[in-house]
Amino acid sequence: MSQPIRFTLSQADIPKQWYNLLADFPEPLPPPLHPGTKQPVTPDMMTAIFPENLVMQEMSPERWIEIPDPVREIYTLWRPTPLLRAVRFEKALQTPAHIYYKYEGGSPAGSHKPNTAVAQAYYNKLAGTKRLCTETGAGQWGSALAFACRLFGLDCTVYMVRVSFDQKPYRKLMMQAWGANVFASPSDHTEFGRKMLQQNPHSPGSLGIAISEAIEDAVKSQAAKYSLGSVLNHVCLHQTVIGQEAIRQMELAGEEPEVIIGCIGGGSNFAGLSFPFVRRKLTEKKNYRIVAVEPSSCPSVTKGELRYDFGDTAEMTPLLMMYTLGHTFMPPRIHAGGLRYHGMSPMVSHAKKLGLIDAVSYPQTKIFEAAVLFSRTEGILPAPEASHAIAAVIDEAVKCRQEGKKRVILFNLSGHGLLDLAAFDTYLSGKMKDIENGD
Ligand SMILES: Cc1ncc(COP(=O)(O)O)c(C=O)c1O
Repeated sequence: MSQPIRFTLSQADIPKQWYNLLADFPEPLPPPLHPGTKQPVTPDMMTAIFPENLVMQEMSPERWIEIPDPVREIYTLWRPTPLLRAVRFEKALQTPAHIYYKYEGGSPAGSHKPNTAVAQAYYNKLAGTKRLCTETGAGQWGSALAFACRLFGLDCTVYMVRVSFDQKPYRKLMMQAWGANVFASPSDHTEFGRKMLQQNPHSPGSLGIAISEAIEDAVKSQAAKYSLGSVLNHVCLHQTVIGQEAIRQMELAGEEPEVIIGCIGGGSNFAGLSFPFVRRKLTEKKNYRIVAVEPSSCPSVTKGELRYDFGDTAEMTPLLMMYTLGHTFMPPRIHAGGLRYHGMSPMVSHAKKLGLIDAVSYPQTKIFEAAVLFSRTEGILPAPEASHAIAAVIDEAVKCRQEGKKRVILFNLSGHGLLDLAAFDTYLSGKMKDIENGD
């Protein structure tokens, strides 16, 4: 047998705790503010949309938070996820770099999203919630929550961004198969959706609009709560199982990553992989370069401002301190629907502000070029979102070749692209364009 390329852990190795970077930030994270009073929001203000147990987790200063047994038990369906060394990809790039990827696409919904969906459905069930309302961009989050709700006997309503609803009909069917009710957003199901449709009957929608619709639905219904698939502290927290496993798997591989890369939409898969490494950077003086990758058509971190802004278009959320393009920004109809968000997780934004991470951006033709090269060497057809990370990995690997340096690169392959084939069709038939501004 040739060299080992697949590094796996056993069921017993699934982390027992989530890691909370809030405990280790050298400066405290600016709190979310009430939009009227501009005072920090109190837990009772947030319980209108989230159950109290998740609100407490959102605000928790604890470094380690126990993963409940029922959640760990469900994690065993796909966790621990494998870590692979991409030797064929390295060869194609003629690079001395060693490239490793953590593959989250083997979960039932096909991405990292079930890591938090299952936890959120569990805490909502405990709190007596009967129905969860949410938004979805690419459909990955909506399908993850539909799956998780099914496991805990909760109803699920998903507002799916119009452009993805049209581009990805099979994602919608997947959600329906798990029993969710799916609306294209903007929809005529909510007051805000109707207002948006009046302004533009052909609106492609955005995550900001879909979030507003889901919150409105939750607030107006008895026993319904809202659930968010990214951005917030508790979502980043739940995703840290990825990085904790990766640290152990890199040890099995006998290497230490020097460059760590992930794509960013709201920031959760990037946070999940990188925050346990950021902890080592802060507490063990490790010198990792950690890079977040976003679309150049929706460049919240590389071109946005760090300031308080709303998380949604209708101004229903508290004000969050984050990198933002403004909550009314309408991202172009790129195929990476999960990255069409105007803002960025406050925790990821704070890590950037403190110089703990870097950010870069790529146009979509570069992304698909990277995705195709990866699929032709490693076999997996990556999600367009995850392919942003691959594009940055290629640039790092080429730099290694030019400098004649072996560096160890680790990236998060956050999901597969098997339900994004229409986007691959557009690319492979030469019809894909780079849309940088406007719609
Ligand atoms: C496969 C995949 N990766 C990444 C993302 C981006 O979200 P986040 O930044 O929260 O990880 C999405 C969002 O839908 C996704 O589906």
